[in-house]
Amino acid sequence: EKDKGLIRDSWESLGKNKVPHGIVMFTRLFELDPALLTLFSYSTNCGVAPECLSSPEFLEHVTKVMLVIDAAVSHLDDLHTLEEFLLNLGRKHQAVGVKTQSFAVVGESLLYMLQSSLGPAYTTPLRQAWLNMYSIVVSSMTRGWAK
Ligand code: HEM
Repeated sequence: EKDKGLIRDSWESLGKNKVPHGIVMFTRLFELDPALLTLFSYSTNCGVAPECLSSPEFLEHVTKVMLVIDAAVSHLDDLHTLEEFLLNLGRKHQAVGVKTQSFAVVGESLLYMLQSSLGPAYTTPLRQAWLNMYSIVVSSMTRGWAK
């Protein structure tokens, strides 16, 4: 429906430059919650954000995150096919010490990235469409925390 069009159209341009947009998103995330940085093993080698944010490991994770978003956008019509994958992804994040509550601030950082890159194209319906998709992804990942 309309939501899907808004997401696809906006991702059309963003998805071509995944890494830079992912850097904006995760820089924002660590600004909002610096403690999350300590969950990455590379943070022990650099401590403060600027060095961490240019490390290959950071860029690799950013790339992985953007590929998951890319997969979700490509599967808007059948998001349930990602269910198993996302559940396992949730499990891995539980294992590295991520708490499900952190997904709220990840969502905020995603919106921040969309807003800063889309400018005036970032509208209330577009924001809502992304939030809807994001909440489906998060609820699948969150199932990975269940016993
Ligand atoms: C792996 C942390 C959010 C996708 C990892 C790893 C860590 C981590 C420590 C293992 C090391 C690595 O592969 O770099 C976090 C933290 C997050 C977060 C602290 C925010 C609270 C996300 C989100 C996604 C994502 C939102 C995608 C929607 C991935 C993927 C992997 C990964 C695909 C690789 C999993 C595998 O090895 O199969 N994450 N992550 N992460 N993360 Fe995240």
